[in-house]
Amino acid sequence: MAIDVERNDGAAVVTVNRPEAMNALDVEHAEALRDRLAELAQDADARVVVLTGAGEKAFIAGADIKYMQSLGVLEARRWGELGHACGELLETMPKPTIAAINGFALGGGCELALACDLRLASANARLGQPEINLGILPGWGGSLRLARTTTLGFAKELVLTGRQVDAAEALDRGLVNAVCEPGDLRERTLELCRALTAKSPLALAYAKEAVNLSLQGEHGANLAAEARLFAMLFASEDQQEGMAAFAEKRQPEFRGR
Ligand code: HXC
Repeated sequence: MAIDVERNDGAAVVTVNRPEAMNALDVEHAEALRDRLAELAQDADARVVVLTGAGEKAFIAGADIKYMQSLGVLEARRWGELGHACGELLETMPKPTIAAINGFALGGGCELALACDLRLASANARLGQPEINLGILPGWGGSLRLARTTTLGFAKELVLTGRQVDAAEALDRGLVNAVCEPGDLRERTLELCRALTAKSPLALAYAKEAVNLSLQGEHGANLAAEARLFAMLFASEDQQEGMAAFAEKRQPEFRGR
């Protein structure tokens, strides 16, 4: 299958499986990725969603350049929107999303990693927005999300020069959250999944929604939204359980209610 979904306890690991093309996304793979992400967004058994690439060389080496070569203006617009749909699902689905960056994350690949909540990279990863070398720009959200995740100055440097960075520099710049040896990436990712699935899924969903507001809209309205999200959690059993467990000096057992 083009896009594999593997379950590991409460985590769903989504793998772009096209290693012969460095996991570059053509229409078939991009549509399948969007559809799998849409299913997982609704699936209560998937408490955390991981995006990764098949093989040891690439996470996703971008949108398929050979496919894009002959696109007209309207087709290019639809292609941009298809990538945006994938990014928006990763960014807004009510559960944490993690990019496990196991190699090249270039162009659209880096952009989809940026749409995830957390990014773990193997030491051999390389990230960048080389679109400028093709006479185009990052059209899957990268021109905005790279600056939001790092700094405006760094984003402009990568987008305007097309320079790629290694994992160490990506970590230094806040482009990824952590770096590990390539052989450890899967276990480190699953470890993070286990840490997240031990939390209240309700609190995770609302916390993600609140943090997503931080760089958009009007500050006062966002604070009001945060107050509403905070208050709503006090209707949950998980809030009762979390605070009772603290008082009773034990680990909480959250049930997502
Ligand atoms: C199509 C790709 C591809 C891509 C790799 N391949 N990246 N095909 N689109 N983005 C294919 C190669 O053509 C080749 O196929 C095979 O994968 C192996 O790649 P090699 O180049 O032989 O491997 P290597 O020398 O190790 O170099 C790896 C690489 C390089 C550094 C990742 O392939 C590369 O620079 N790829 C392009 C990266 C890029 O520019 N991405 C941004 C795309 S634009 P064959 O059949 O020849 O063996 C984009 C826009 C998003 O993403 C927004 C759209 C709206």
